[in-house]
Amino acid sequence: MIGRLSLSGRRAIVTGAGAGLGRATARLFAGAGAHVLCVDRDAAAAGETAAAVGGCFAAIDVADRRAVGNALTSFAAGGVDVLANIAGVASSGERVEEMDPARFEAIFAVNFKGTLNCIQAVLPSMVAAQRGVIINMVSSAIDLAIPTNASYSISKAAVAMLTKVLANEVGGDGIRVNAVAPGFVPTGLSMEAAGPAAADRAAYLDRWSKSAPLGRVGTPDDIAHQFLYLASDAASFVTGQILRANGGMTMPW
Ligand SMILES: NC(=O)c1ccc[n+]([C@@H]2O[C@H](COP(=O)([O-])OP(=O)(O)OC[C@H]3O[C@@H](n4cnc5c(N)ncnc54)[C@H](O)[C@@H]3O)[C@@H](O)[C@H]2O)c1
Repeated sequence: MIGRLSLSGRRAIVTGAGAGLGRATARLFAGAGAHVLCVDRDAAAAGETAAAVGGCFAAIDVADRRAVGNALTSFAAGGVDVLANIAGVASSGERVEEMDPARFEAIFAVNFKGTLNCIQAVLPSMVAAQRGVIINMVSSAIDLAIPTNASYSISKAAVAMLTKVLANEVGGDGIRVNAVAPGFVPTGLSMEAAGPAAADRAAYLDRWSKSAPLGRVGTPDDIAHQFLYLASDAASFVTGQILRANGGMTMPW
């Protein structure tokens, strides 16, 4: 592993590790030398990733505060260097005037409160150790304000602000807090909105590919490498940032 990108000897928690971007991140962290706790509500998928990376797993719903507290606190008792909050759920198809508060609450419970639950479970250990890295998952949706996708976009915007406030609060404790905002990466979650028909899925992918200057959609590995960078000492002077890995689709200041 080149220079400061190694995670050798580090203990990392990856949520959403059963599929997509979380699974790719767990694999890359393990490949960089970390011992990884793979967290997912899908027990079989979490177990599969854990077996592939030689780590352990916890089959829990991140929205279940008590379950998160139990599982993450017990892992953190052995030390925790990195928390990657990747578990998330999508929403689409609702204009703001039609938004159903119960559906919004369900999305928010996973994407925002699930992230907060995991952070609060590991933070005491990180503060005691005076070191640690937290990386949250947001989305290009925070910049795009995609019509009919308010619940998801709002939940991710809330996580972006949580990232910045926490970075300010715990920088003095040696803890870095950042977020990754991916562009479009074909996964179970992102392809939900395309529907089942092959032609619709191809057209959907084509539209997203053309929306980025690089002219393609991302891969799970593209995004996992952003998590590796932020988790590693290569990013030791980086905190409070939103790292946009999106082929250039959005370019805010
Ligand atoms: N794929 C994209 O284009 C894209 C773009 C931007 C952001 N994201 C974000 O990346 C994250 C991962 O998405 P993905 O595309 O890999 O999706 P995915 O569906 O492939 O994987 C998501 C994983 O999270 C798990 N999960 C979902 N809800 C959970 C919960 N409550 N508790 C525990 N585990 C839970 C699922 O079981 C699944 O294994 C999400 O937060 C998503 O919002 C994805």
